[in-house]
Amino acid sequence: MTVKLVIGTQWGDEGKGKIVDYLSKNVEYVIRFQGGNNAGHTIIVNKEEYKLHIIPSGVISGKIGIIGNGCVIDPEILSNEIKSLEKRDIDVKLLISNRAHIIMPYHKLLDGAEERYLADQKIGTTKRGIGPCYSDKISRNGIRAGDILNTSRLQKKLERVIPIKQKMFEVYKIDEKLDQKEILNLYVNFGKQLKKYISDTHIIIQNAVNQEKNLLFEGAQGTMLDVDYGTYPYATSSHVIAGGASIGVGIPPKNFTEIIGIVKAYTTRVGEGPMTTELTDNVGQHLQRVGHEFGTTTSRPRRCGWLDLVVVKHSCDLSGITKIALTKLDVLNGLKKIKICMGYEFKGEMTDIYPYDVDDVADCKPIYKEFKGWDKIENIDSFSDLPKSAQDYILFIQEYLKTPISIVSVGPERNETMII
Ligand code: IMP
Repeated sequence: MTVKLVIGTQWGDEGKGKIVDYLSKNVEYVIRFQGGNNAGHTIIVNKEEYKLHIIPSGVISGKIGIIGNGCVIDPEILSNEIKSLEKRDIDVKLLISNRAHIIMPYHKLLDGAEERYLADQKIGTTKRGIGPCYSDKISRNGIRAGDILNTSRLQKKLERVIPIKQKMFEVYKIDEKLDQKEILNLYVNFGKQLKKYISDTHIIIQNAVNQEKNLLFEGAQGTMLDVDYGTYPYATSSHVIAGGASIGVGIPPKNFTEIIGIVKAYTTRVGEGPMTTELTDNVGQHLQRVGHEFGTTTSRPRRCGWLDLVVVKHSCDLSGITKIALTKLDVLNGLKKIKICMGYEFKGEMTDIYPYDVDDVADCKPIYKEFKGWDKIENIDSFSDLPKSAQDYILFIQEYLKTPISIVSVGPERNETMII
């Protein structure tokens, strides 16, 4: 039995979708445990591109996808995603936890309004209502997936929460009038569409573990967007690190057999907040252009920079990463020199501890180690076929992190993946 967990070690967009798809060969379930349709996973199979936001990536290869209780779900987006996959002849096998929270129309309106209110201090959210939905979960005003299957229960909850939201609209100067009846009908209708998927998924997953089945957990976002250990407040609203997976699906931490950290060979970030190794020069432009670094969810250009190992080490330590998958190494092809950040200069001293406060992070200067570049990486099956400078790059990362790099991805296709 294997229970593998895939975690993004940077700011998301590390290429988790491809690795999850690759690792899902012999698994029964592919499970999401946090986040919502703020995530964007691109998977390319036989030159066909699939962009998923909430459905677990493994569904493309015929696995059963589970959306765990730690996720937040926009039922409209989910229904559309199911329909668009079915149109492409994918048999969508899906289960949704009855405890997962539901994104409501007022969450989306409030996400936009809060961002407008914050003006130049905005977080740069995806405006999908993620933060307001998680806020309602914690303040116990949330609507859960199970609730949209029960009209009277949903009505009772809406009666309680809608007047509060209408008051908040006044504060944020939102003109919209919330029509309780209309929202009730809309969500009861979503409930009818999603009924066959919603259940006590934690029991199904616990049973699968007891029956020694293979499971794969698919993280969304990355450690630096974790609500506790990321660049708070420039973070998302969920627990992205490995500990979040146990809570987000309802199985004990002891069940995980492998924790795979996805490390992109350079750094990207969408939205606001500090990024120590950011490059605004032509190397940054190379990474953005060659790496197609534009958001899957919002199409925003991603900020690009050198690989920051202070960030990745922070992630490895927090999640207990047992193996690394290094992605998009080919994007560095053609660069004369390549740098890796191996520490920060902060207040005149060198540190490899990621500061807790974003203002302190902004004061950190990267300390780089420089590597010779390489021309190209093509049709390569083994580590020894790689250019010597690419081998040096990989070995340095491995040594710094004291964690084996066992997968190297050198292109978007499934077959452009090397096991070392
Ligand atoms: P939210 O999750 O929409 O609230 O956005 C909070 C922050 O997380 C913003 O900086 C977003 O750009 C970022 N973010 C959320 N999801 C992703 C993702 O899947 N990839 C990269 N950044 C993300």
